[in-house]
Amino acid sequence: MHRTVDISVLEALKSRSILRLTDLTAAEISAVIALARTVKADYSAFRGVLAQRSLVMLFEKPSLRTRVSFEIGFQKLGGCVSFLDHCNEHIGSREPVGDYGRILERWADVIVARVFKQETLAALRDNCSSPIVNALSDIAHPCQVLADAQTLVEHSVKLESMHLAWLGDGNNVCLSLMELAAIMGGQMTVVTPATHKPCATLTAQIQSIAAKTGATITLTDDPSEIAGAHAVYTDAWISMGQKDCPEKIASLRKLSVTPEIMKIAGPHAKFMHCLPAHRGEEVAGAVIDGPQSVIYDEAENRMHAQNALMLALLGVLPATRTVRGAQVEILANRG
Ligand code: CP
Ligand code: NVA
Repeated sequence: MHRTVDISVLEALKSRSILRLTDLTAAEISAVIALARTVKADYSAFRGVLAQRSLVMLFEKPSLRTRVSFEIGFQKLGGCVSFLDHCNEHIGSREPVGDYGRILERWADVIVARVFKQETLAALRDNCSSPIVNALSDIAHPCQVLADAQTLVEHSVKLESMHLAWLGDGNNVCLSLMELAAIMGGQMTVVTPATHKPCATLTAQIQSIAAKTGATITLTDDPSEIAGAHAVYTDAWISMGQKDCPEKIASLRKLSVTPEIMKIAGPHAKFMHCLPAHRGEEVAGAVIDGPQSVIYDEAENRMHAQNALMLALLGVLPATRTVRGAQVEILANRG
């Protein structure tokens, strides 16, 4: 299989940190997805390409998908991974975050961190010559959304003309999806209770990106506005580290993704969730386990999208040949 990617776009990603999706342009997102699909199609063509490369993972919160997909993905490409469990001791409590960066850069070619505060990622980036990648923070989950973008593309949704619907809490995943829609020029309808809208400051930033790209991001509390959406996305009502809040749950109940809600979007609409999911809360079992659900594709694509990102950040790009100037074909089935 041959897939056309602008290799100069991927080359420009070398050594960059990805703390939010807004650290990538539309062309870079498309190129990463194209490379992810190429890697996914034939891992044998990428065997050993990350030999001698090292990934350090710092996690202040639990994980199934992110941890395993990074660990297995990086090792499948020949690299080695060191995982530091920071669930019981936040990064920066034993020694300054800056020292983490200055020390880890001596061993690690790339650092992936899951943190409570976005500022921890910024402090790592500002004190480290190796790229830092956000594996989920209070305000963003860019690796999740790259995998989701790949999943949408694989299900024949064009990111530039997608209509994505969000129902639930205006949380970190919601903000990264809003960034995706804004950067790519798509449409997103964010349905939350008035009390749990996405962060106003970040929403304003995202709206200013949307104004430039022609994207439409609508914030509402009315689920009828999701009619015609290509995908309906939801997430846990209480994110990791947040306290249980009965009032919040009560306000979100009417936004649970039920078969009736999916009918408003339409029969073509995909159901999406970053997982872990709570059946009977943010989504009905009949929806998440039904024919419109693409949740396991999203989970699988975590590994492929992240692998593509790792290859680009490390400047390890596959064999190519030039066609039409900067356009190249990446040969997935070479050798
Ligand atoms: N979706 C996601 O990030 O899952 P984990 O919390 O299991 O890593
Ligand atoms: N919003 C969720 C996402 C988990 C992948 C959380 O932050 O816990």
